[in-house]
Amino acid sequence: MHSPTRPARRDAGKTTQTTVLGCLRPGLRATAALAAAVTAATALPLVAPQLTRRFVDDAIGGASTRHLVFVAVGYLILAVAGQGARTLTAWLASRLAWDGTNRLRERLAEHTLGLDLGFHGRRTPGELIERVDGDVVAIAEFVVAFLLDVVAGVLLLAGVLVVMLTVEPRVGALLLAYCALIGFAMAQAQRLAVPSAARSRARYAALFGDIEERLAGLEDLRANGAGEHAVNRVHRASGRMYRAEFRSERIGSGLLAGTSVAFAAGTALVVALASWARWSGTLTVGTAVLLLQYTQMVRTPFERLIDQLRQYQAALAGVARVRDLLAERRTLPEPADPRPLPASGPLGLRLDGVGFAYADDGAPVLSGVDLTLAPGETLGLVGRTGSGKTTIARLILRLYDPTEGAVRVGGLDLRNADPASVRRRIGVVTQDVQLFTASVRDNLTLFRPDLAGDRRLREILAEVGLGDWLAGLPDGLDTGLGGDAVGVSAGEAQLLAFARTLLTDPGLVVLDEASSRLDPATERRVEAVVDRLLAGRTGVLIAHRLSSLARVDTVAVVDGGRIVEYGRRDDLTADPGSRFARLLSAAGVAR
Ligand SMILES: Nc1ncnc2c1ncn2[C@@H]1O[C@H](COP(=O)(O)OP(=O)(O)OP(=O)(O)O)[C@@H](O)[C@H]1O
Ligand SMILES: [Mg+2]
Repeated sequence: MHSPTRPARRDAGKTTQTTVLGCLRPGLRATAALAAAVTAATALPLVAPQLTRRFVDDAIGGASTRHLVFVAVGYLILAVAGQGARTLTAWLASRLAWDGTNRLRERLAEHTLGLDLGFHGRRTPGELIERVDGDVVAIAEFVVAFLLDVVAGVLLLAGVLVVMLTVEPRVGALLLAYCALIGFAMAQAQRLAVPSAARSRARYAALFGDIEERLAGLEDLRANGAGEHAVNRVHRASGRMYRAEFRSERIGSGLLAGTSVAFAAGTALVVALASWARWSGTLTVGTAVLLLQYTQMVRTPFERLIDQLRQYQAALAGVARVRDLLAERRTLPEPADPRPLPASGPLGLRLDGVGFAYADDGAPVLSGVDLTLAPGETLGLVGRTGSGKTTIARLILRLYDPTEGAVRVGGLDLRNADPASVRRRIGVVTQDVQLFTASVRDNLTLFRPDLAGDRRLREILAEVGLGDWLAGLPDGLDTGLGGDAVGVSAGEAQLLAFARTLLTDPGLVVLDEASSRLDPATERRVEAVVDRLLAGRTGVLIAHRLSSLARVDTVAVVDGGRIVEYGRRDDLTADPGSRFARLLSAAGVAR
């Protein structure tokens, strides 16, 4: 599940802004096609009022019906062509935007999956989904809208103003002043909308995260009767989202209403001016109609621009958050000169004065941990819950780096080891086995089809005692697990996890025993498989069942993040004063 680490250099240094823009940048041909479409969509509507003026003036002047029909048909063709150009622009803009944002989405997903557990521990999957998908959708919608409404709108606006200034400078100048005033007011209003849109998106992400977590824990919540409390929490998160969204919407609607009123007033003014000019004889009726039409044309792009302000806010917030996400760095540095772990055979393990804390300013979870395992030996880790056993396992797997000291495998400090070889040569079966909604094959190979052929998979399943189970499946290795498909018991899941580990043939295995009880028959099967797995390999066995410790060579008792007792199992068992011996007798296990 851990994608091979990528060179840190690719992420660092260059600002991530270039990455966001780089993903969104369209190709040359697509840009040219879009530019042509936008130009047509702007120019055609600008010509149309000229035909209206002609029609009105010629009609008043007593032109023939034939001539009038001719002008009218011309107008119709122009109108249809204008609409066609606009539709084409919309289509091209959508394609362009989605192409770009899909690239961004892939980049984000890849980046996020590559981040360390330290990062994923701080974020719920739902929040990440909302960030990878929701933010990118906001950006895509804005890019489409920007091309359609902002670029095309501004072009149309400029065109109208130029034509008006040529036809009737006084009315044109008035309209220009008016637009400038409204533009200024809009820029001011924008400041109001920025923070509220950002808050609304953050609330969305929090709500999604909350729901996702609740769904993942459904079984536990139900079983413990905590459903009401969970619903209440989601309800409150929804409330916060609603308030943020409501505020953001209200500001947007207020802006829209403001422009409507302003433009109604503007139209009235132009009508008054045109009437006065007509009365004083400087304007034909046709020109008055033309001016009115142009004035009306200004309104739509302006309203769209205002509307876009809101999407612009959301997109801006989205870009900022996408940039934050891309700026998240792997905290496990890449080795400058990566060296592979020995490719075969059991691997020695050594922890030298290892100290660790999960957060930079957090309390130490481990301190001064020294452990040594010769190749092929097995170490049993015991200790109270929360003492730090799983944490030691995570350091051995290099899911985190120690804050003090070093973890050495096969004589190599893990910080200098090639990450791919660490994944290949160190195997793990964790406390809770994660199965995927996928076929048995994919669950075993973790979606790496070239890892092993079907014969090897069958062999391994038989080896872990799942041969009969496989034979009973409707589609063999192709049978789907999880979801509505075949259910898997806790014991079977454990055995599948062992099969997964056996498949990669590691030289060091870490087994974090499930603390939940298996039935005695399954337990015996699991123990037999553990013996197989440890044969010829170095093993760290985190034991919750003291009976599992029968097979280990050395035992370390962990307490409060320290090794409080460490020695050969036989010696510790023989010494009645040792903690381990006391632990055994307390559990009623014969020594
Ligand atoms: N991801 C994490 N982030 C922060 N603190 C953690 C994290 N995982 C564990 N801890 C803390 O570290 C300490 C050691 O936890 P760890 O999981 O190593 O215990 P353990 O010995 O494996 O317990 P158990 O026997 O219950 O599995 C605990 O105090 C725990 O709260
Ligand atoms: Mg644990």
